[in-house]
Amino acid sequence: MLESKTPVIIGSDHAAYHLKEKLKAYLAESGIDVEDVGAYSEDSVDYADFGIKVASFVSTGKFERGILLCGTGIGMSMVANKFPHVRAALCDDIFSAIMSRRHNNSNILVMGGRVIGDALAVEISKVWLETPFDGGRHQLRVEKFDSLGEKLKAESKGKISI
Ligand code: RB5
Repeated sequence: MLESKTPVIIGSDHAAYHLKEKLKAYLAESGIDVEDVGAYSEDSVDYADFGIKVASFVSTGKFERGILLCGTGIGMSMVANKFPHVRAALCDDIFSAIMSRRHNNSNILVMGGRVIGDALAVEISKVWLETPFDGGRHQLRVEKFDSLGEKLKAESKGKISI
C-alpha cells in the first residue's frame, strides 16, 4: 500500500491510453482517488489538450499531484512545464522518479507509454507517490525557478511584441 493517499489527476493521449488504464487500476487498488481527464480511447488525439488539463489543475492547486502519459513523455513534459508552479518530471526509471521527488519536488510524473512497460510504470508511480521532498537547500533551488515564467512575463510586458 502507498504511504501518500493524495488524490491524483491523470491524463494521456491515445499512445498511452493502455498505460493510463493500468495505472488507474493500480491507484484504485491502493486506495488513491483518481480523476481521469482522458483520453478515453485509442482514437488519435492531441497530447497538448490533455497535458493542459492536468497541468492547469496542478498549477492552480486543485490537485497536488498529477500523472501525464504519452508515447515518449516528451510532448507532455513540454506542455506541463509551461505552467507556473508545475514541476513535471519525465521519469522512465525508478532512480529518476525518486530523485525528482527528493530534489525537485516534482508534482507531475510523466512517462512514455511507448518507452517503458506497464509493470515498470507501476513501480515508478509507486516510488514517486511514496517519496517525500528533502526540502532544505533543494527548496531554495526550486524557488529560483518555480514562478520564473510569471516573472519574465511581467518584466517583458510592453517590451516585446510577438
Ligand atoms: C503520438 O503519436 C506521439 O507523438 C505522442 O504520444 C508523444 O510521444 C508526443 O510527445
